[in-house]
Amino acid sequence: MSNTPQPAPVVSEHIELKARNVSFGWEKTPLHWIPGDPFTGHTINVLHLLLPAGERWFVHVYKQVLPYIRDERLREDVIGFIGQEATHSAAHDDVLPHLKALGLDPTPYTAQVDWLFEKLLGDRTLPPGRARQWWLMERVATIAAIEHYTAFLGDWILNADALDERGADAVMLDLLRWHGAEEVEHRSVAFDLFMHVDGSYRRRARTWATAFAALLFLWQRGARFFMENDPSLLDGKATVGAFLRAGRQGTLPTAGAMARSIPRYLSRTYHPSQEGSTAQAVAYLASSPGANGGR
Ligand SMILES: [Fe+2]
Ligand SMILES: [Fe+2]
Repeated sequence: MSNTPQPAPVVSEHIELKARNVSFGWEKTPLHWIPGDPFTGHTINVLHLLLPAGERWFVHVYKQVLPYIRDERLREDVIGFIGQEATHSAAHDDVLPHLKALGLDPTPYTAQVDWLFEKLLGDRTLPPGRARQWWLMERVATIAAIEHYTAFLGDWILNADALDERGADAVMLDLLRWHGAEEVEHRSVAFDLFMHVDGSYRRRARTWATAFAALLFLWQRGARFFMENDPSLLDGKATVGAFLRAGRQGTLPTAGAMARSIPRYLSRTYHPSQEGSTAQAVAYLASSPGANGGR
């Protein structure tokens, strides 16, 4: 028997995952939905640029993996995950026409993100066999790495009381917290799937490095794009100083918390259930206006 430590869930809870019918009305949400703080709002708005194409891509890849799943419960989890991610993608996509109506056309950026996910990370014309299998496993591992960060951000937004204290728009907060809560709820699925179909530590570490670098690059570029194209700002800039300041104020995650999340994912005993609280996520989902028919 091997002495290598194995990833294991910390709790034996299992939740049946389902997509919820959500409804968010954007008519009253202002461009600067955190009053007086366009930088923080736009940094969070980058989610609306990345997630529609990114989560569509998750769904596309996972539909190809379904035939390789030999565990019935995991298959059910993956099907639930696909339903939730498809809903997330559509909900963030719905924010974009509102931003455009407020004078901030996101199309130049989203066109590049679409190319990234559909072409660069899409199905390459590979012959059936090892090369095609390799590319599928690379993408499954990449999704597991990205889901480490969606769970991190989900846990963060559920606890970001500073956004309420700053008077952030209630509908935007509800979208972010509904999504964040579902990310916490399904945080183990992508990792469990990767371990089930492949599980190579070298692949996990390699795809983490690529995903982390790509996320940092896309995020700072997206924040700069919004700040520079915001029609109400004369000299809008996204700076590292502003990011660190927002972290200290609790309106964005801190650089320290992001740095500490790295060795956790790379630990050989990592399992996503060690992060976040399912009970907190489920409680939010029960009370979310948007996830309960927009009441
Ligand atoms: Fe999602
Ligand atoms: Fe997710």
